[in-house]
Amino acid sequence: MSDKANRIWEQFEKVGIIPVVVLNDSKDAIPLGKALLEGGLPAAEVTFRTDAAEESIRLMASEYPDLLVGAGTVLTTEQVDRAVAAGAKFIVSPGLDEEVVNYCLERDIPVCPGTQTASEMIKAIKLGLTHVKFFPAENAGGLKMIKAIGAALTSLKFMPTGGINENNVSEYLKSDKIFCCGGSWMVKGDMIKAGDFGLIKEKVAEAAKLVEANR
Ligand code: 3PG
Repeated sequence: MSDKANRIWEQFEKVGIIPVVVLNDSKDAIPLGKALLEGGLPAAEVTFRTDAAEESIRLMASEYPDLLVGAGTVLTTEQVDRAVAAGAKFIVSPGLDEEVVNYCLERDIPVCPGTQTASEMIKAIKLGLTHVKFFPAENAGGLKMIKAIGAALTSLKFMPTGGINENNVSEYLKSDKIFCCGGSWMVKGDMIKAGDFGLIKEKVAEAAKLVEANR
């Protein structure tokens, strides 16, 4: 991995839990960014599932230089271009698409594709990656699976995402196979829709405490 990518993964490790965000309206981007920063998880994976994603990344990245903003659910190279032009510092994907991964690697854009099986992980290693997402973590075997595969594929570090919450995140955080966790429980759609950024900040702060306690 390049120095640039390694610096991003180091930041992921430091933050510990990367909030996975679905924004339906870019007006929520700034207050959400503020809640993430003030709550103590200064990062956001803004999923490219909504029309508001690109503009939300642009707003967050320009307003909050200390917030590590990237794009999630990236499925195409065209989305990579749009996300990076908007200010995304990293690309996350639910699965491993060689075209998307190579496109990012050629441009030195940090990319963390989703993997689930040993075969997909070996493909990731062959492409030159050291950090992958494990998705959907709880459905795909959770921490036990990461430990089992990670024992064989020792060069990989994992970002489990999917089904992680305040009740199970601590066990994941304790594992040295895991560089960070991803999750949406502290930034749920209904809280964003209700404009309850105070509650989001509280949930983010609780999550940040779990990182501190388990690292
Ligand atoms: C997602 O793609 O939405 C992420 O994996 C988040 O999963 P979660 O909502 O179970 O945290």
